[in-house]
Formats: sequence, structure tokens, C-alpha cells
Amino acid sequence: MRAPLYSLLALCVFPVIAEVNTSYVVLEGERLQQGRDIWLANCEGCHGYGFAGAPVPMTPSEWAPRLEKSRTVLYEHAIDGFFGADDTMMPARGGNPDLTDDEVKSAVDYMAALAAYYIQLERK
Ligand code: HEC
Repeated sequence: MRAPLYSLLALCVFPVIAEVNTSYVVLEGERLQQGRDIWLANCEGCHGYGFAGAPVPMTPSEWAPRLEKSRTVLYEHAIDGFFGADDTMMPARGGNPDLTDDEVKSAVDYMAALAAYYIQLERK
């Protein structure tokens, strides 16, 4: 008797999740796809919505100044954590200590590429 109830529940819940996951542009290349997966699982909760003051890659005005920093600085801030001018805090590794340096960097690469993509769109 329980199974049908669960499948009904699943039907209600999964389309929503699928929609959230597919709403971010998939960029070419294995590296950026790995980065996208890491970003969805660890970073999107803040950066997808501007939660806690996190800059949103889909908002050009928020990411243009970040793209002016060197990639090394962005990597360091994502790995070690960072306080912004307004005391907004980027937690080390997005709060997940299990992520390797390379995984965090791939998520930064995805965010930077996503931001560049939206900046391009705005200019067209
Ligand atoms: C708890 C919320 C939160 C999570 C989760 C989070 N961030 Fe952030 N992140 C922030 C905030 C807030 C800032 C802005 C700090 C500031 O004021 O410049 C930020 C800034 C950044 C920046 C810009 C740093 C700079 O020097 O301008 C990068 C890059 C970044 N985050 C990467 C990531 C990555 C990669 C992940 C996932 C592994 C992640 N963030 C997860 C809140 C978060």
C-alpha cells in the first residue's frame, strides 16, 4: 500500500528539483561540467539567490568586479574563506571541508564562466 503513495510524492517533488538543477546553463567542457555539479551541490544555495550577500553570477553588476580580480585570488578566497567590505562572509570551501582544492577551483571556474556568459548576454 505504501509504494503508490511514495511514487505520488516523488512525482510532486522531483519535477521541482529537476527544474532547479537544469536552470543553470551547461557550459562546454568536462571541467566546467564538473564545476557545475560541485556548484549545484555546495555553492548554489547561497550564490544562486544572493543569500547572505553572496554575489550571483547571473547578475552582471555583482560579478563584473569579481572577474577583475585574478583567478588565483578568487581561488584563495573560495578555499580559505573571505570577508568582504560589508562584512559579508564567504565560508571556507563553501562550508564543506570534504571538497578538495581542485573541486573548489572547478566550481569557481564554473561561476566565473557563468558570470562571463551573462555579461556577454547583457552587452548584446
Ligand atoms: C553560506 C553562503 C555561501 C556559500 C555556501 C558559498 N558562498 Fe561564496 N560567497 C558568499 C558570500 C557572502 C560572498 C561575498 C563575500 C564578499 O563580500 O565579497 C561570497 C563570495 C565568493 C567569491 C568571490 C570572492 C572574491 O574575492 O570576490 C567566490 C569566488 C566564491 N564565493 C566561491 C564560492 C564557491 C566555489 C562555493 C562553493 C564551493 C561558495 N562560494 C559557496 C557566500 C557563500
